[in-house]
Amino acid sequence: SVLALAACGSDEAASGGESGDGVQEMTIKFSHVVAENTPKHQGALAMKEYIETESDGAIEVEIYPNSSLFGDQDEYQNLASNNVQFIAPDLTKFVGNNPQFNVPALPFMFETDEQAIEFWDGEKGQEILGSLEGDGVLGLSMWPNGGKHITNNERPIDSPDDFQGLKFRTQGGQVLEEIYSAMGAGSESIPFGELYTALDQGVVEGQENTFSNIESKKFDEVQEYMTIMNHTRVDYAVFTNTEFWESMNDATKEIVQAGLDEGTAVAREEAITLNEEALELIRERGLVEIVELTPEQIEEFRTALEPIYDEFEEQIGADVYEAAREAAG
Ligand code: LMR
Repeated sequence: SVLALAACGSDEAASGGESGDGVQEMTIKFSHVVAENTPKHQGALAMKEYIETESDGAIEVEIYPNSSLFGDQDEYQNLASNNVQFIAPDLTKFVGNNPQFNVPALPFMFETDEQAIEFWDGEKGQEILGSLEGDGVLGLSMWPNGGKHITNNERPIDSPDDFQGLKFRTQGGQVLEEIYSAMGAGSESIPFGELYTALDQGVVEGQENTFSNIESKKFDEVQEYMTIMNHTRVDYAVFTNTEFWESMNDATKEIVQAGLDEGTAVAREEAITLNEEALELIRERGLVEIVELTPEQIEEFRTALEPIYDEFEEQIGADVYEAAREAAG
Protein backbone atom coordinates (compact mmCIF):
# COMPACT_ATOMS: atom_id res chain seq x y z
CA SER A 1 0.00 0.00 0.00
CA VAL A 2 1.02 3.62 -0.41
CA LEU A 3 1.07 3.91 3.36
CA ALA A 4 3.49 1.05 3.84
CA LEU A 5 5.70 2.31 1.02
CA ALA A 6 5.83 5.84 2.36
CA ALA A 7 6.40 4.71 5.90
CA CYS A 8 9.37 2.57 4.93
CA GLY A 9 10.68 5.32 2.68
CA SER A 10 10.55 7.88 5.46
CA ASP A 11 13.26 5.99 7.36
CA GLU A 12 15.37 6.75 4.37
CA ALA A 13 14.71 10.49 4.53
CA ALA A 14 15.27 10.80 8.26
CA SER A 15 18.55 9.22 9.21
CA GLY A 16 17.47 8.76 12.81
CA GLY A 17 19.41 11.03 15.14
CA GLU A 18 18.46 14.33 16.74
CA SER A 19 20.51 17.46 17.23
CA GLY A 20 20.79 19.14 20.66
CA ASP A 21 17.64 21.22 20.18
CA GLY A 22 15.53 18.28 19.12
CA VAL A 23 15.75 18.80 15.37
CA GLN A 24 15.80 15.49 13.52
CA GLU A 25 18.91 14.82 11.47
CA MET A 26 17.92 14.09 7.91
CA THR A 27 18.59 14.59 4.25
CA ILE A 28 15.73 15.98 2.21
CA LYS A 29 15.70 15.65 -1.57
CA PHE A 30 14.03 18.25 -3.83
CA SER A 31 13.83 17.19 -7.47
CA HIS A 32 12.74 19.31 -10.43
CA VAL A 33 13.01 19.45 -14.20
CA VAL A 34 14.04 23.02 -15.01
CA ALA A 35 17.38 24.84 -15.20
CA GLU A 36 19.07 26.78 -12.40
CA ASN A 37 18.30 30.30 -13.55
CA THR A 38 14.55 29.91 -13.02
CA PRO A 39 12.01 30.92 -10.35
CA LYS A 40 11.57 27.29 -9.25
CA HIS A 41 15.26 26.66 -8.68
CA GLN A 42 15.75 30.02 -6.95
CA GLY A 43 12.84 29.18 -4.62
CA ALA A 44 14.31 25.75 -3.90
CA LEU A 45 17.73 27.30 -3.18
CA ALA A 46 16.23 29.81 -0.73
CA MET A 47 14.43 26.94 1.00
CA LYS A 48 17.65 24.91 1.24
CA GLU A 49 19.67 27.81 2.64
CA TYR A 50 17.06 28.63 5.25
CA ILE A 51 16.58 25.05 6.43
CA GLU A 52 20.29 24.21 6.56
CA THR A 53 21.18 27.42 8.42
CA GLU A 54 18.29 27.32 10.88
CA SER A 55 18.83 23.64 11.68
CA ASP A 56 22.58 24.20 12.17
CA GLY A 57 23.23 21.60 9.53
CA ALA A 58 21.10 18.87 11.13
CA ILE A 59 18.91 18.93 8.04
CA GLU A 60 20.57 18.75 4.66
CA VAL A 61 18.62 19.68 1.53
CA GLU A 62 19.79 18.28 -1.80
CA ILE A 63 18.37 19.92 -4.92
CA TYR A 64 18.40 18.04 -8.21
CA PRO A 65 17.61 20.36 -11.16
CA ASN A 66 17.34 19.55 -14.90
CA SER A 67 15.55 16.17 -14.40
CA SER A 68 18.88 14.89 -13.02
CA LEU A 69 17.19 12.72 -10.36
CA PHE A 70 13.66 12.25 -11.70
CA GLY A 71 11.85 13.65 -14.76
CA ASP A 72 8.23 14.35 -15.65
CA GLN A 73 7.60 10.65 -16.18
CA ASP A 74 8.66 9.38 -12.78
CA GLU A 75 8.91 12.19 -10.20
CA TYR A 76 5.36 11.84 -8.92
CA GLN A 77 5.62 8.10 -8.41
CA ASN A 78 8.89 8.58 -6.57
CA LEU A 79 7.36 11.23 -4.36
CA ALA A 80 4.50 8.89 -3.49
CA SER A 81 7.06 6.26 -2.47
CA ASN A 82 9.16 8.87 -0.61
CA ASN A 83 12.30 8.46 -2.71
CA VAL A 84 12.14 12.24 -2.96
CA GLN A 85 10.51 14.55 -0.41
CA PHE A 86 9.71 17.62 -2.54
CA ILE A 87 8.83 18.16 -6.16
CA ALA A 88 7.30 21.26 -7.77
CA PRO A 89 5.70 20.22 -11.03
CA ASP A 90 3.70 22.28 -13.49
CA LEU A 91 0.08 21.89 -12.38
CA THR A 92 -1.14 21.02 -15.88
CA LYS A 93 0.80 17.76 -15.60
CA PHE A 94 -1.69 16.54 -13.00
CA VAL A 95 -4.91 16.81 -14.95
CA GLY A 96 -5.02 13.01 -15.14
CA ASN A 97 -5.43 12.94 -11.36
CA ASN A 98 -7.86 15.85 -11.23
CA PRO A 99 -9.05 17.85 -14.27
CA GLN A 100 -9.20 20.97 -12.09
CA PHE A 101 -5.43 21.21 -12.44
CA ASN A 102 -6.25 22.53 -15.94
CA VAL A 103 -6.73 26.03 -14.52
CA PRO A 104 -3.32 27.37 -15.77
CA ALA A 105 -4.31 26.17 -19.26
CA LEU A 106 -7.60 28.10 -19.39
CA PRO A 107 -7.01 30.50 -22.27
CA PHE A 108 -6.36 34.10 -21.20
CA MET A 109 -7.78 33.51 -17.71
CA PHE A 110 -4.97 35.21 -15.78
CA GLU A 111 -2.99 38.17 -17.03
CA THR A 112 -0.55 38.38 -14.13
CA ASP A 113 1.23 36.20 -11.57
CA GLU A 114 -0.64 38.06 -8.87
CA GLN A 115 -4.01 36.89 -10.16
CA ALA A 116 -2.86 33.28 -10.40
CA ILE A 117 -1.41 33.44 -6.88
CA GLU A 118 -4.69 34.82 -5.57
CA PHE A 119 -6.56 31.91 -7.07
CA TRP A 120 -4.23 29.18 -5.73
CA ASP A 121 -4.02 30.79 -2.29
CA GLY A 122 -7.82 30.98 -2.17
CA GLU A 123 -10.30 28.39 -0.99
CA LYS A 124 -10.84 26.61 -4.34
CA GLY A 125 -7.14 26.61 -5.16
CA GLN A 126 -6.25 25.13 -1.80
CA GLU A 127 -8.93 22.49 -2.23
CA ILE A 128 -7.44 21.47 -5.59
CA LEU A 129 -3.89 21.43 -4.19
CA GLY A 130 -5.13 19.11 -1.46
CA SER A 131 -6.83 16.71 -3.86
CA LEU A 132 -3.93 14.24 -4.17
CA GLU A 133 -4.27 13.17 -0.56
CA GLY A 134 -5.37 9.70 -1.63
CA ASP A 135 -1.93 9.13 -3.17
CA GLY A 136 -0.18 10.14 0.04
CA VAL A 137 0.78 13.48 -1.47
CA LEU A 138 0.29 16.90 0.11
CA GLY A 139 0.11 20.13 -1.95
CA LEU A 140 1.78 22.78 0.19
CA SER A 141 2.19 25.95 -1.80
CA MET A 142 1.82 27.46 -5.26
CA TRP A 143 4.97 28.86 -6.90
CA PRO A 144 4.46 30.85 -10.11
CA ASN A 145 6.60 30.85 -13.22
CA GLY A 146 4.60 32.98 -15.64
CA GLY A 147 2.68 33.36 -18.88
CA LYS A 148 3.46 31.06 -21.80
CA HIS A 149 4.41 32.09 -25.30
CA ILE A 150 4.48 30.19 -28.57
CA THR A 151 7.64 29.22 -30.41
CA ASN A 152 7.77 27.34 -33.70
CA ASN A 153 9.91 26.57 -36.72
CA GLU A 154 7.50 27.04 -39.54
CA ARG A 155 6.19 30.60 -39.76
CA PRO A 156 5.60 33.81 -37.79
CA ILE A 157 2.29 33.26 -35.98
CA ASP A 158 -0.07 36.20 -35.53
CA SER A 159 -3.51 34.69 -36.08
CA PRO A 160 -5.28 31.43 -35.19
CA ASP A 161 -5.10 30.34 -38.85
CA ASP A 162 -1.32 30.30 -38.68
CA PHE A 163 -1.52 27.21 -36.47
CA GLN A 164 -3.11 25.11 -39.25
CA GLY A 165 -1.33 21.84 -39.83
CA LEU A 166 1.48 22.35 -37.29
CA LYS A 167 2.21 20.10 -34.35
CA PHE A 168 3.03 21.43 -30.90
CA ARG A 169 4.42 19.92 -27.75
CA THR A 170 2.33 20.48 -24.63
CA GLN A 171 2.95 19.82 -20.96
CA GLY A 172 -0.13 17.61 -21.07
CA GLY A 173 -3.83 17.75 -20.45
CA GLN A 174 -7.11 17.97 -22.26
CA VAL A 175 -7.38 21.76 -22.32
CA LEU A 176 -3.96 22.38 -23.89
CA GLU A 177 -4.73 19.70 -26.45
CA GLU A 178 -8.04 21.37 -27.25
CA ILE A 179 -6.39 24.79 -27.65
CA TYR A 180 -4.32 23.39 -30.50
CA SER A 181 -7.07 21.39 -32.13
CA ALA A 182 -9.39 24.43 -31.99
CA MET A 183 -6.85 26.21 -34.20
CA GLY A 184 -6.34 23.27 -36.57
CA ALA A 185 -3.05 22.13 -35.07
CA GLY A 186 -1.95 18.83 -33.57
CA SER A 187 -0.27 18.34 -30.22
CA GLU A 188 1.72 15.81 -28.28
CA SER A 189 2.72 15.73 -24.65
CA ILE A 190 6.49 15.30 -24.27
CA PRO A 191 8.54 15.38 -21.04
CA PHE A 192 10.37 18.66 -20.49
CA GLY A 193 13.74 16.89 -20.40
CA GLU A 194 13.20 15.62 -23.96
CA LEU A 195 11.83 18.81 -25.45
CA TYR A 196 15.02 20.36 -26.84
CA THR A 197 15.79 17.21 -28.81
CA ALA A 198 12.18 16.84 -29.96
CA LEU A 199 12.27 20.40 -31.35
CA ASP A 200 15.70 19.89 -32.86
CA GLN A 201 14.67 16.69 -34.61
CA GLY A 202 11.32 18.03 -35.80
CA VAL A 203 9.16 15.60 -33.80
CA VAL A 204 7.03 18.72 -33.23
CA GLU A 205 7.27 22.11 -34.93
CA GLY A 206 6.70 24.16 -31.82
CA GLN A 207 5.88 24.45 -28.14
CA GLU A 208 4.59 26.92 -25.55
CA ASN A 209 6.54 28.04 -22.51
CA THR A 210 7.64 30.90 -20.28
CA PHE A 211 10.51 33.16 -21.35
CA SER A 212 12.52 31.76 -18.47
CA ASN A 213 12.15 28.15 -19.65
CA ILE A 214 12.72 29.08 -23.31
CA GLU A 215 15.89 31.02 -22.48
CA SER A 216 17.41 28.72 -19.86
CA LYS A 217 16.89 25.62 -22.01
CA LYS A 218 17.97 27.46 -25.15
CA PHE A 219 14.90 26.44 -27.14
CA ASP A 220 15.57 29.51 -29.32
CA GLU A 221 18.56 27.59 -30.76
CA VAL A 222 16.14 25.11 -32.31
CA GLN A 223 13.19 27.44 -33.04
CA GLU A 224 12.78 30.27 -35.54
CA TYR A 225 9.80 32.29 -34.33
CA MET A 226 8.36 33.33 -30.99
CA THR A 227 4.94 34.93 -30.52
CA ILE A 228 4.36 36.77 -27.25
CA MET A 229 0.94 35.37 -26.30
CA ASN A 230 0.49 35.04 -22.55
CA HIS A 231 -2.53 32.82 -23.28
CA THR A 232 -1.75 30.11 -20.71
CA ARG A 233 0.60 29.78 -17.73
CA VAL A 234 3.19 27.64 -16.02
CA ASP A 235 2.41 27.50 -12.31
CA TYR A 236 3.73 24.96 -9.86
CA ALA A 237 2.67 23.30 -6.67
CA VAL A 238 5.24 22.25 -4.15
CA PHE A 239 4.21 18.71 -3.30
CA THR A 240 5.51 16.62 -0.42
CA ASN A 241 5.00 13.07 0.77
CA THR A 242 2.38 13.02 3.52
CA GLU A 243 4.08 10.30 5.59
CA PHE A 244 7.40 12.14 5.45
CA TRP A 245 5.68 15.40 6.41
CA GLU A 246 3.98 13.79 9.37
CA SER A 247 7.14 11.98 10.47
CA MET A 248 8.73 15.28 11.48
CA ASN A 249 8.61 16.36 15.10
CA ASP A 250 7.49 19.92 15.91
CA ALA A 251 10.98 21.44 16.07
CA THR A 252 11.88 19.95 12.69
CA LYS A 253 8.62 20.73 10.97
CA GLU A 254 8.72 24.33 12.13
CA ILE A 255 12.05 24.86 10.37
CA VAL A 256 11.03 23.02 7.21
CA GLN A 257 7.72 24.90 7.02
CA ALA A 258 9.47 28.26 7.52
CA GLY A 259 12.01 27.23 4.86
CA LEU A 260 9.18 26.44 2.47
CA ASP A 261 7.61 29.85 3.20
CA GLU A 262 10.95 31.48 2.43
CA GLY A 263 11.15 29.52 -0.85
CA THR A 264 7.59 30.58 -1.71
CA ALA A 265 8.43 34.25 -1.08
CA VAL A 266 11.56 34.09 -3.24
CA ALA A 267 9.91 32.17 -6.10
CA ARG A 268 7.02 34.65 -6.11
CA GLU A 269 9.35 37.67 -5.94
CA GLU A 270 11.77 36.46 -8.60
CA ALA A 271 9.37 35.09 -11.21
CA ILE A 272 8.58 38.36 -12.98
CA THR A 273 12.18 39.62 -13.00
CA LEU A 274 13.62 36.31 -14.19
CA ASN A 275 11.10 36.17 -17.04
CA GLU A 276 11.77 39.78 -18.04
CA GLU A 277 15.51 39.17 -18.01
CA ALA A 278 15.03 36.00 -20.04
CA LEU A 279 13.06 37.90 -22.70
CA GLU A 280 15.91 40.43 -22.90
CA LEU A 281 18.45 37.62 -23.34
CA ILE A 282 16.35 36.01 -26.06
CA ARG A 283 16.18 39.38 -27.84
CA GLU A 284 19.94 39.85 -27.50
CA ARG A 285 20.73 36.39 -28.84
CA GLY A 286 18.57 37.21 -31.86
CA LEU A 287 17.96 33.58 -32.82
CA VAL A 288 14.17 33.83 -33.06
CA GLU A 289 12.04 36.40 -34.86
CA ILE A 290 9.78 37.83 -32.16
CA VAL A 291 6.13 38.55 -32.99
CA GLU A 292 4.31 41.02 -30.75
CA LEU A 293 0.55 40.96 -31.17
CA THR A 294 -1.72 43.99 -31.41
CA PRO A 295 -4.75 44.11 -29.07
CA GLU A 296 -6.93 43.25 -32.09
CA GLN A 297 -4.86 40.17 -32.86
CA ILE A 298 -5.05 39.03 -29.24
CA GLU A 299 -8.82 39.47 -29.42
CA GLU A 300 -8.89 37.12 -32.41
CA PHE A 301 -7.18 34.42 -30.35
CA ARG A 302 -9.49 35.03 -27.42
CA THR A 303 -12.53 34.57 -29.66
CA ALA A 304 -11.12 31.43 -31.29
CA LEU A 305 -10.45 29.84 -27.89
CA GLU A 306 -13.57 31.02 -26.05
CA PRO A 307 -15.62 27.82 -26.80
CA ILE A 308 -13.14 25.86 -24.66
CA TYR A 309 -14.74 27.31 -21.53
CA ASP A 310 -18.13 25.76 -22.27
CA GLU A 311 -16.58 22.53 -23.37
CA PHE A 312 -14.78 21.97 -20.06
CA GLU A 313 -17.19 23.57 -17.63
CA GLU A 314 -18.63 20.28 -16.47
CA GLN A 315 -15.24 18.64 -15.96
CA ILE A 316 -13.51 21.56 -14.28
CA GLY A 317 -16.52 23.00 -12.51
CA ALA A 318 -18.48 26.26 -12.66
CA ASP A 319 -17.32 26.96 -9.10
CA VAL A 320 -13.67 26.75 -10.17
CA TYR A 321 -14.32 29.09 -13.13
CA GLU A 322 -16.04 31.51 -10.81
CA ALA A 323 -13.21 31.52 -8.26
CA ALA A 324 -10.64 31.95 -11.05
CA ARG A 325 -12.58 34.83 -12.60
CA GLU A 326 -12.86 36.47 -9.23
CA ALA A 327 -9.09 36.19 -8.70
CA ALA A 328 -8.57 37.60 -12.19
CA GLY A 329 -10.60 40.63 -11.19
C1 LMR B 1 7.36 22.30 -19.18
O1 LMR B 1 7.30 21.06 -19.14
O2 LMR B 1 7.41 22.93 -20.23
C2 LMR B 1 7.37 23.07 -17.90
O3 LMR B 1 6.23 22.69 -17.19
C3 LMR B 1 8.60 22.77 -17.12
C4 LMR B 1 8.57 23.44 -15.79
O4 LMR B 1 8.60 22.75 -14.77
O5 LMR B 1 8.55 24.68 -15.76
